[in-house]
Amino acid sequence: MRIFLDTANIEHIRHAAGLGVISGVTTNPTLVAREGAGDLKAAILEICSMVHGPISVEALSPDADGIKQEARELASWHKNVVVKIPISEAGLEAISVLSRENIKTNLTLCFSANQALLGALAGATYVSPFVGRLDDIGHHGMGVVADTVGIYNYYKLPTQVIAASLRHPLHTIEAAKAGAHIATIPYSMLMQMIRHPLTDIGIARFAEDWKKVAKQ
Ligand code: G3P
Repeated sequence: MRIFLDTANIEHIRHAAGLGVISGVTTNPTLVAREGAGDLKAAILEICSMVHGPISVEALSPDADGIKQEARELASWHKNVVVKIPISEAGLEAISVLSRENIKTNLTLCFSANQALLGALAGATYVSPFVGRLDDIGHHGMGVVADTVGIYNYYKLPTQVIAASLRHPLHTIEAAKAGAHIATIPYSMLMQMIRHPLTDIGIARFAEDWKKVAKQ
């Protein structure tokens, strides 16, 4: 399973990219707004220069023609830009046309395996089931990831599953066990995944013991 960073924060992306463990980035309007007003194209191009993999940017038009137009513009920015499109009738129509134009798409705001199946049939490159938001309302978010992976594998559908809206490190493990192709995670979660209290204790103990050796 690959790991993408779910953020639009340039410094966090720079740091994570340097660790060599992330192979893509996903953004959404909320994450972009969190970083303040600015030049979206310049920010996305900077991200593309740091992470050499798929970079998802969301299209916001409500109708199919608007989504297609927006998607063509976003995709023209850089070869790695993937256009995130919320599931709707307009979204599916746009995805089916864009896939024939070889524009990569990421079906977003996906909350059921049925929605994920439709996205794959329309030709989406990726679908993003939102795990945490389903958990929030008492549903089993990771179950949608597992069902979707099972359906895609059974019918050999090429669409890749991005487990999204992940909230804690256990979600990454569960996404990997469910067979997700990708887990997109917040920067804070990546940092949590690196750390373990026993690692900290071990490093401190080795350092102390080494000081004793050095004194001998
Ligand atoms: O990738 C989708 C993600 O950004 C949504 O996360 O935490 O807002 O549900 P969250």
